[in-house]
Amino acid sequence: MKILVVGNGAREHAMAKTLAKSKHCPELFFYMEIANPGLVRLASDYAIGKLTDLQQLSLYALRIAPDLVIVGPENPLAAGAVDALSARGFNCIGPTLEQARIESDKAFMREFMKRYIRRGYPDWTIVTTLKQLHERLVQNHNVAIKPIGLTGGKGVKVYGRQLNSLEEALNYGAELLRKDGKVLIEEQLIGEEFSFMVFTDGKKVVPMPLVQDYKYAFENDTGPMTGGMGSFSCADHMLPFISRKDYETAYDIVADVILHLGRVTGLPYKGVLYGQFMQTEKGPQIIEFNARFGDPEAINVLSLLTTDFVDICLSIVDGTLIDSITFEKKATVCKYVVPVGYPTAPLIDSPFKLPVFQFSGLDIDLFFANVYEKGGTLYTTASRAIAFLAKAETVIAAKEKLDTFLSSWCPENLFYRRDIPKLFNE
Ligand code: GLY
Repeated sequence: MKILVVGNGAREHAMAKTLAKSKHCPELFFYMEIANPGLVRLASDYAIGKLTDLQQLSLYALRIAPDLVIVGPENPLAAGAVDALSARGFNCIGPTLEQARIESDKAFMREFMKRYIRRGYPDWTIVTTLKQLHERLVQNHNVAIKPIGLTGGKGVKVYGRQLNSLEEALNYGAELLRKDGKVLIEEQLIGEEFSFMVFTDGKKVVPMPLVQDYKYAFENDTGPMTGGMGSFSCADHMLPFISRKDYETAYDIVADVILHLGRVTGLPYKGVLYGQFMQTEKGPQIIEFNARFGDPEAINVLSLLTTDFVDICLSIVDGTLIDSITFEKKATVCKYVVPVGYPTAPLIDSPFKLPVFQFSGLDIDLFFANVYEKGGTLYTTASRAIAFLAKAETVIAAKEKLDTFLSSWCPENLFYRRDIPKLFNE
């Protein structure tokens, strides 16, 4: 069996390692923007190209003729990678361009939720003129200001965090208006965030363990937003601040979105849908949807997956999703190490070595993200470098295991957040 994975981050490295464990022993192929050293080691072959260059991607797929294609990141999904590959007869895991708008177009997402889901979201307004922007913010500027399109998790600015005056809010809103012609202004949600990811074939919806992701660059949730600095999950697959009722509320919202996306687009949604929720006083509220696995959340859940990942993918494609997907009952903690200066002024092309021997006995796994290898040395790029994952019976034990390793290894040109995760009572 041949499987082509599109993407080159730590999420795709986690997917590839999980695929490689399958009883089907698939040959793995990758279409990447930069050669991820972890993926290169697992590859029967790979191609380098822009992830949104559908012509080059299609040509590569035609050359290797995969039985299955899995699209990892949001940008190729939003560009229509699944449409292009399906049109050429390939079986794909991932939504079509129209379905992926649930992530790539926040105005579409809010209007879709208002029309079909009718619950589980904050007050929101889409403004299209400076006058509307001014009126909305003068009325109340305690809001989240969000770009409509994809920004790799770095575009949202929240009053009281990244925006500290009405003037700053107006300036940021105006900047987005100039760029996109519209901007989303939302009521600021207060609470704990959580990631609820599910597998779906468009009919069945099978949940994965809940995960909490930490998006701020610096300790105590300060500094700029990033793609995610780390994440954790608990041994019972829940989170300490989520009740069974909240869990069911969140599941029902995600399942309803899948159902309606299928109806509206006329095609079953096949792949992963990820609801990013805020657990508020009013219950779970949707911050946004992602039409794919989260990064780093994929690393937590795939490291626990005990059902054959290839079987899951095949059942998604066939429309017969396995409903007894199982995960190890262990806690996980994942942390990214990133270049000093990340995300605003990252130290790029900076060399570092990975002392594999130091963690080989520690039961810690690593996933290459945006680094490149030259002459046996790894080099940083502008983005996150390496993700590390520890598993244990409890979150505290997993955190301790990971922190012990990272504090002895992390070189000076990289950093990580020691305070991930915040410790709740387990
Ligand atoms: N962890 C956030 C994301 O994958 O978008």
